[in-house]
Amino acid sequence: MTRRIAILISGRGSNMVSLIEAAHAADFPAEIALVLSNRPDAGGLDRARQADIEALAIDHKAYSSRESFEQALDASLRERNIDFICLAGFMRVLTPWFVERWAGRMLNIHPSLLPLFRGTHTHQRALEEGVLVHGCTVHFVVPELDAGPIVAQAVVPVVPGDTEDTLAARVLMQEHALYPQALRLICEGRARLEGGKVVFTNAWSAEGSLRSPK
Ligand code: GAR
Repeated sequence: MTRRIAILISGRGSNMVSLIEAAHAADFPAEIALVLSNRPDAGGLDRARQADIEALAIDHKAYSSRESFEQALDASLRERNIDFICLAGFMRVLTPWFVERWAGRMLNIHPSLLPLFRGTHTHQRALEEGVLVHGCTVHFVVPELDAGPIVAQAVVPVVPGDTEDTLAARVLMQEHALYPQALRLICEGRARLEGGKVVFTNAWSAEGSLRSPK
């Protein structure tokens, strides 16, 4: 059964585009049915419409509380029979109420190798710490910020002369490949939640490594 996915964004939506493009493949086990932004000016909304996907803005500033904003969000998702949510640069913290309602059915992509560098400014903090590898993580969303069970990670080297921008660009390229892969694993049942951990079937290769410096 093809799952109906909603992508939640706040900005330019480059991860959203990579999910939309991946879902065009005939064998992709999910359909991108809706894009929602909490910011009416998010560039990703137009990009979604250009791809013929319904794109809605639900402006959090128009609501008096976090809860009432999330109730509107939840109602829009349910009206459209959404099965699964992908957060892609969605920059509003979600309350435990919303997260519990979508428990096990909501993924996020985060620009660091979790559990390192939760929160914001991940690339700057990686550079400050002097780590030699960095990357991105797709994980299930739980009430604690950036703390849910990990579905997939990609690693990049940090190289001399890197700035926040060069490192962010290197990580972003990996994000675009990783998120569709992780969504596919889940929708095909090859990655599933069991007892708060992700269990995999036929998804492994124990070969290869990334050493930095090489
Ligand atoms: C991405 O790098 C994503 O990992 C990050 O925001 C960027 C959104 O870019 N997400 C977070 O920091 C979530 N805490 P995009 O709008 O081009 O996909």
